[in-house]
Amino acid sequence: MEKHYAVIGTPIDHSLSPWMHNAGYKALGIDAEYQRFNVEPSHLAEAVEGLCSLGFSGWNVTLPHKEPIISLLDALTPEARRAGAVNTVKILDGQRIGHNTDGVGFVRSVQDDLKGFKGKKAVLLGAGGAAKGIALALAEQEMELHILNRTPEKASELVQAIQREGGIATSGLFAPGKWLEGVDLLVQTTSVGLHGESFPFSLKGISDQTLVVDIIVNPRETVFLQEARKQGCRTLDGSGMLLFQGVLAWEFWLGGQAPVEAMRQALKGQLMQRMFYKG
Ligand SMILES: NC(=O)c1ccc[n+]([C@@H]2O[C@H](COP(=O)([O-])OP(=O)(O)OC[C@H]3O[C@@H](n4cnc5c(N)ncnc54)[C@H](OP(=O)(O)O)[C@@H]3O)[C@@H](O)[C@H]2O)c1
Repeated sequence: MEKHYAVIGTPIDHSLSPWMHNAGYKALGIDAEYQRFNVEPSHLAEAVEGLCSLGFSGWNVTLPHKEPIISLLDALTPEARRAGAVNTVKILDGQRIGHNTDGVGFVRSVQDDLKGFKGKKAVLLGAGGAAKGIALALAEQEMELHILNRTPEKASELVQAIQREGGIATSGLFAPGKWLEGVDLLVQTTSVGLHGESFPFSLKGISDQTLVVDIIVNPRETVFLQEARKQGCRTLDGSGMLLFQGVLAWEFWLGGQAPVEAMRQALKGQLMQRMFYKG
């Protein structure tokens, strides 16, 4: 029997998840279909009821519903509870289970390049929704975190959340500093650069051994990543995180191993067609 999956959010037209998941079903000969639905905040509860009534097996959740959907679910996985946000829902024996694959998806996307997490130093620029999932997942891998945000209170709150989970974290101002010299992993999670704008500070002085990631997907190489590349650092864009949050959602729903390469190629194919994205 055909299974049904979806992503809900607003706006939703930019979502590439249907291509990624449908290519995965095709690669493994799975009888399933993945759709995207524009859902306004005032219709979230109705949409969830509708998906359940229509027999959907699960769905992804994107902005602005990642937090509000929690009150409509029956249970949360530890990942969702820690992040305080849900990006994946599974229907299991009629129960709506909320999960979060963003943070662990990020970890999967850097593990080959970073070669080990424990005891290494990560600096996160930003303390918004995406940073929270990433920070908690990196702390779980026993990295030491330093979180820099324009609004310092939000960075301090995130540090406290990490410390409550037994992780090591400090916070600071969104500015260059001594931290540039000893960082193994630098992650840019703010929305600065989304529209091609320049980054407010230079990375001069950063070690060329640092792995630098900007989680923005489009443009592929933000001004921030260009600067990191000029300093000799290895760089990654946000497409790996996008891919692996999808891969992990797939595995949460269907079990087994998702066809990563088929999903990667589908995602890349779509990204290549988007305006700012070049090879
Ligand atoms: N690759 C992926 O799979 C993936 C997944 C999720 C998100 N993303 C990307 O991640 C970015 C952030 O998303 P989000 O959901 O975390 O957003 P969010 O919750 O709204 O957080 C935005 C963050 O950016 C900071 N910021 C915004 N404008 C700034 C400026 N002019 N100067 C300095 N800091 C600024 C905010 O600082 P304040 O706290 O001071 O406002 C906050 O830390 C977006 O570009 C999104 O596309 C990528």
